[in-house]
Amino acid sequence: MAPFLSLISLYLASAAAASHLEPHHRAPPAQCSKGRTAKNSQCCVWYDVLDDIQTNLFEGGKCDDEAHDALRLSFHDAIGYSPLLRSQGKFPGGGADGSIIMFADKELLYGANDALDEIVDAERKLADRYHVSYGDIIQFIAVVSVRNCPGGPLIPFFAGRPNATKWAPDGLVPEAFDSVTKILNRVHDAGLTADDLVDLLASHSIGKQETIDPSIPGTPFDTTPSILDTNFFLDTLLRGMVWPGKGFHKGQVPSPFGGEFRLQSDFAIARDQRTSCRWQGYINQQADMSTNFGKAMAKMALLGQNPARLTDCSDVIPPPTGSAPQTAKLPRGKTVLDLELTCHNGQFGLPTLANIGDLRKLTGYISKLLHL
Ligand code: HEM
Repeated sequence: MAPFLSLISLYLASAAAASHLEPHHRAPPAQCSKGRTAKNSQCCVWYDVLDDIQTNLFEGGKCDDEAHDALRLSFHDAIGYSPLLRSQGKFPGGGADGSIIMFADKELLYGANDALDEIVDAERKLADRYHVSYGDIIQFIAVVSVRNCPGGPLIPFFAGRPNATKWAPDGLVPEAFDSVTKILNRVHDAGLTADDLVDLLASHSIGKQETIDPSIPGTPFDTTPSILDTNFFLDTLLRGMVWPGKGFHKGQVPSPFGGEFRLQSDFAIARDQRTSCRWQGYINQQADMSTNFGKAMAKMALLGQNPARLTDCSDVIPPPTGSAPQTAKLPRGKTVLDLELTCHNGQFGLPTLANIGDLRKLTGYISKLLHL
């Protein structure tokens, strides 16, 4: 977080200093297309990219399948970052550098990158059309895709990433069948914490699966796949009971009901002692969840990059498209007693939900007593 935080501090300090200047000393904003302005003229091109993607890729600014793919792509590019491999002289480092587009012939062959071909192709064409780097286009489109989903925060966007010089090796993108320890070790190597991981997984609130069980493509991870809300954190804690498609597939665990898909990794991270309190704590905490998701996304977008060389183009990001409900809703037929809560720390989440864990312990204890 340090380089990102220092960039933000620098940004805030210079903004404060600028506010003490007389208006005529301030640089006038750059005039961009359609009468729009940006603090920096280098950002104007992003308005044109914005117009193009909102019309053609996101079909009028929707939180649709392409938006979900674009968000997933931003992770798969950025997490291809490994200071550990760099220290061993095996890899220059990587990160949010667009290597997944530049070296698509290599990286798209990796199992973890299944089903990203179409979005990679679309984004390559856009970057080439507007002469921007692949690393920038991936993070910019992801930021806009999040904004198109009700509940999506404003994620700062910095432009100026140089193009990648080397493809990321296989094995850097976590897989749904990896253990929590393996996933945490991987993200720690990349500079992300366990909390960052939970925050980033809010992205699965607008996610669907295509590849794990191909017999049911488009099966969502929660009941509201077009809204970035806290339902995902609630749904994943419900007891799993059914296979929504054709039985078990690697990386899958039973879903609480048909029509919803559950990744093994989401299931395990929701219940692991290193991550469960933060996970559970997001239920019904829409504002916190969305804000922290935005911060973690901004941090992820700078992996492997030197923030001092980038330009803040956040003023190009459009306003929100809508809001998400403040509270998560239990699916029909489910009650709080169907929740598998492993965090019993009262300071997290809604006390009512946290207490239900204790209530269940209590009822279990009482029924044991009755059977004695
Ligand atoms: C533990 C880490 C993660 C694992 C194991 C994981 C795994 C997966 C898998 C297996 C899918 C289904 C892909 C398919 O079948 O089409 C998926 C979808 C998705 N993932 Fe992740 N993911 C992780 C973290 C992330 C992060 C950090 C982000 C973004 C910041 C992200 C964004 C998405 C999105 C938006 C989708 C839905 C794509 C769609 O609807 O087509 N994931 N993820």
